Amino acid sequence: MTDPTDNPHESTGSRSADNVLNSQQAAAWNGYEGRYWADHQDRYDGLNDGANIPLLDAAAIAPTDRVLDIGCGNGHTTRLAAGRAAYALGIDLSAPMLERARASAVAGSVDNVDFVQADAQAYDFEKAAFDIAISRFGIMFFADPVEGFDNIARALRPGGRLAFVCPQDFDRMDQSTVFAAIGEHVRLPDLSQSTGPSPLAFADPDNTRRVLADAGFDNVAIEGIEQPQYWGEDADDAAGFLFGFGPLRHWLREAHADSLAEQRARQAAVDTFRTYQDDSGVRLIGRYWLVTAVHP
Ligand SMILES: C[S@@+](CC[C@H](N)C(=O)[O-])C[C@H]1O[C@@H](n2cnc3c(N)ncnc32)[C@H](O)[C@@H]1O
Repeated sequence: MTDPTDNPHESTGSRSADNVLNSQQAAAWNGYEGRYWADHQDRYDGLNDGANIPLLDAAAIAPTDRVLDIGCGNGHTTRLAAGRAAYALGIDLSAPMLERARASAVAGSVDNVDFVQADAQAYDFEKAAFDIAISRFGIMFFADPVEGFDNIARALRPGGRLAFVCPQDFDRMDQSTVFAAIGEHVRLPDLSQSTGPSPLAFADPDNTRRVLADAGFDNVAIEGIEQPQYWGEDADDAAGFLFGFGPLRHWLREAHADSLAEQRARQAAVDTFRTYQDDSGVRLIGRYWLVTAVHP
């Protein structure tokens, strides 16, 4: 069973009273996992910032454009998009992450952004109000992906563009070696087999093409990119960060891992992270799909 407060990696869609279709996702991103992301804003940006330039360049934002950032989280890409555009709106389910997003925009004197807490699959966007929709890892969690992208298409003007990044197969990410080492000591689920809303929802490009076509997008292009993920200053630091992840905590609990097993698993993670460590810290390679499409 999924504990909704820490694990957004396995969920089914269910509608809550306030037009949040993805209520389990909302519980996770407003619970432990969302708070961990908010409390570790710089750490998560260290993991994911490598995708920013490929994403924003592919979005080809013009100074007069209005940009929508789906699943914006702590809002780094929203602020960067706002720097290239006339206006950017970040939408996300997570109250703690949006609090960080708003505070960071104020601290950075970025005043052409707004943030809204809502489910992007269901939110009543103003029709055709945006030129471009972007997302850095924020579009993989829709209970009904076609409905989600259809709703995003509604927000785009005719000819408006979509650009997002999402993870490739788990086995193609360096971090799978760390999870394999942990899995020697505690039983983990088969992370290469996630189905439904999860980071791997768009790991299969054929599925992505189908979903986007069904949601009415055309000119779909999918390109593989590789970017370094900064995990920490050394292997201990990287493992400490990883062992706070909500899904890993959830799986350790589900495996009934005792403290000795958890200690061994953590040491295995440290040893594996050390193989990626140099004088400047621990860097692993993340392999992503960069997806672009046009709303006709
Ligand atoms: C993996 S995080 C990425 C956050 C941010 N884009 C980044 O790169 O740091 C996924 C984000 O998508 C948001 N999210 C998931 N499902 C959503 C939905 N249906 N509507 C809006 N936001 C959603 C989560 O709250 C979370 O902030």
